[in-house]
Amino acid sequence: MSPRMNGLGIMPEDTRICVVMVGLPARGKSYIAQKAQRYLRWLSVPARTFNVGNYRRENAPQPSADFFDVNNAEGERKRRAAAQAAVDDMLKWFREEQGVVAIFDATNSTKERRKWVLDQVSKEGIEVIFVESKCDDEELIMANIRDVKTSSPDYVGQDPEKAALDFRERIRNYEKVYRSINEDGDEDHLTYLKIMNVGKKVFINRIQDYLQSRVVYFLMNLHIRPRSVWLSRHGESLLNLEGRIGGDADLSSRGEEYARKLPELVRQSVGSDRPLTVWTSTLKRTIQTARHLPKHYNQLQWKALDELDAGVCDGMTYQEIADQYPEDFQARDEDKYNYRYRGGESYRDVVIRLEPIIMELERSEDILIISHQAVIRCIYAYFMQKTQEESPWVPVPLHTLIKLTPMAYGTEIERYSANIKAVSTWRGKGSTAKHEDPAPEGGI
Ligand code: ADP
Ligand code: F6P
Ligand code: PEP
Repeated sequence: MSPRMNGLGIMPEDTRICVVMVGLPARGKSYIAQKAQRYLRWLSVPARTFNVGNYRRENAPQPSADFFDVNNAEGERKRRAAAQAAVDDMLKWFREEQGVVAIFDATNSTKERRKWVLDQVSKEGIEVIFVESKCDDEELIMANIRDVKTSSPDYVGQDPEKAALDFRERIRNYEKVYRSINEDGDEDHLTYLKIMNVGKKVFINRIQDYLQSRVVYFLMNLHIRPRSVWLSRHGESLLNLEGRIGGDADLSSRGEEYARKLPELVRQSVGSDRPLTVWTSTLKRTIQTARHLPKHYNQLQWKALDELDAGVCDGMTYQEIADQYPEDFQARDEDKYNYRYRGGESYRDVVIRLEPIIMELERSEDILIISHQAVIRCIYAYFMQKTQEESPWVPVPLHTLIKLTPMAYGTEIERYSANIKAVSTWRGKGSTAKHEDPAPEGGI
């Protein structure tokens, strides 16, 4: 791994973890795996999910429920081969691609299977955490089946009603042999997190080091209640008008117009009676943008939401930076994510300070965040899984409200423009443009 700081601090060179998912089908294992992968990658921790179902589909693309019966020898053989292929690829990834956290996404629903994975992985000096999702809420399980299983590649072209019945039958076959972790008291030596009914109760056993506890803490905070996260930049500021970065300026008159229009945009998008919590930065322009929102919305100011600190360049135009610090200007274009302003911050630094914000967002329901261009890019990158190469260049227009709605897999995005003119603060690579760069398509 690069010695560079990742979002969880510098970790001992040799910390490598395999998160082994456990649980009956339709318990949110893949959902949890994807979330963990996204969070870790956002924090620059090399993470990858190995889904056994995907390997199994190579030899059994659309099996019916009886394939998953333990007495089906052919099914057992193919499932075992798929699991072995996934373990082999995973160990290869650790060895050859410097993987740090692998997520082994399968049911692993018997003690024998867990021991089988544990033996192979720990032999390589990789720590194993089992993460079990246990759920007996029949309605939720049926909803999960309808929402994600009937549209899975296992049932392509099949009637969704029949697919749901078959999937229910598949679960029954697993139930015949399923053992929850340490249910019989003989798996107490394992490191595990057991999440019951989406976090109503959690059991933690033998969690050891920093990285393990960060992953566990993140997973404990997940919920699946429907909600959205709204993002907005502050209204246009007086420094935006001059093409100057940073500072703590007031809103321009058009920025103030946006602040007055924001309650209406929010009403349109949120609905009038849903409670909303508003987070701003500690800078005047975001607080002023929030000030006309309904009084019953809770408002909170976070220092962590302040704009990327441009250090010695704070208050300058891009042209002035290019003239006074030409090497820095070029270095920033070459690696914008990692470039740290003299006495200031890089995008990487911003992501690190936003980690508590993301953790709190995962725990929360509807939140409106009013912040700044670079900060919003970093939050957007988390939800939309943008790479470090892309995220610092994403156009984020002023005077636009963005609605992000997390779905079972992925995030839905909607945009609400206030139709109030503003300068463009987007700058293309190599340019010192003062507003003349029209932001390209494909922005937020
Ligand atoms: P599995 O991988 O266990 O077969 P999936 O991850 O494909 O199940 O199921 C996704 C669905 O599970 C989503 O609709 C999601 O809302 C739901 N879900 C997420 N977490 C949990 C949980 N802890 N318990 C039950 N359902 C969950
Ligand atoms: O120009 C507005 C602004 O929010 C500045 O305060 C900040 O330095 C800049 O955008 C961040 O954008 P970029 O990383 O593209 O320079
Ligand atoms: C699967 O084949 O879809 C699967 C999850 O396999 P297993 O139960 O063997 O983990």
